[in-house]
Amino acid sequence: MYGTSKAEITRSKEKIISLKREHNYFIIAHNYVDTDVQDIADYVGDSLQMALKAADSDAEKVLVASIKIMGESAKLLNPDKKVLMVHPYADCRLANLNNVEELRELKRKHPAAEVVCYVNSAAELRAESTITCTSANCVKIVQAIPEDKQIIFIPDSNIGKWVEYQTGRKLIMLDSNCYVHHQISFVEANQTKAQFPDFSLLVHPECRLEVCKLADEVLSTSQMINYVNEHDKVILGTETGLYDQLRKRYPQKLLVPLSSRMVCEDMKLISLDMVAKALAEEQYEINLDGETGKKSLSSLQRMWEILG
Ligand code: 13P
Repeated sequence: MYGTSKAEITRSKEKIISLKREHNYFIIAHNYVDTDVQDIADYVGDSLQMALKAADSDAEKVLVASIKIMGESAKLLNPDKKVLMVHPYADCRLANLNNVEELRELKRKHPAAEVVCYVNSAAELRAESTITCTSANCVKIVQAIPEDKQIIFIPDSNIGKWVEYQTGRKLIMLDSNCYVHHQISFVEANQTKAQFPDFSLLVHPECRLEVCKLADEVLSTSQMINYVNEHDKVILGTETGLYDQLRKRYPQKLLVPLSSRMVCEDMKLISLDMVAKALAEEQYEINLDGETGKKSLSSLQRMWEILG
């Protein structure tokens, strides 16, 4: 938090801990949010891990320190709990790029296709899909679909291209991507790699295919955390919140962000002040309509069935 003294940050954190106890909330935070917010969370992880942890907790109320699409996942897996978002407008631009109508049009053109949807997408899109996938299991999910079946893959076409490259399958896609990852060109990634020749370059599959091909590993955020647990010299090609988290956890390791421009503006709306406000006012509650919840849960269940 720029311009805020250490003492003020400590006071904010103490206030949040006391509000959290008073109102009995379980706080989940995504790997990308500010590390001060990660510090006050009961659990920090990727979107699905966060939602599952909240479901495992005894707390009847959950505060999601992340963007709307991840709040929807939390609500989906915690239908009987009160689920609050920290910020009313923080959302994912990728998730909103493809509207449901565009997907329905694709489904009309390819009525027999499986529709594989990335978990970090709007609930309405997931409800239109037949199988959910995550950045960690997207390749495995597509590999499990019979060869003769057409596949519509939404919404991130960079993940789709990586899956095509890994599986040799042809996917039907829409043209959308995450601006945080897509902005990194091959030239920029190659320059950073050349600057740190004995470092491993890890990138998220939301990066361009040519950047993924250049990387030593293409990993989800939770896989990157596991990798850094075991290695000392790493370039991190994803949102800088993950780099900040790992640098704080491992000050002795040599970690480098692939680019300091890899910042998700919506994730950065999740501040300590907003967390305190949400807890004090017990807002902004998130709800899923019954049909959307039922369909997106069934798409998620197909993923778990495939993974066994
Ligand atoms: P993970 O599922 O790897 O945490 O991805 C989060 C994300 O939104 C990447 O931009």
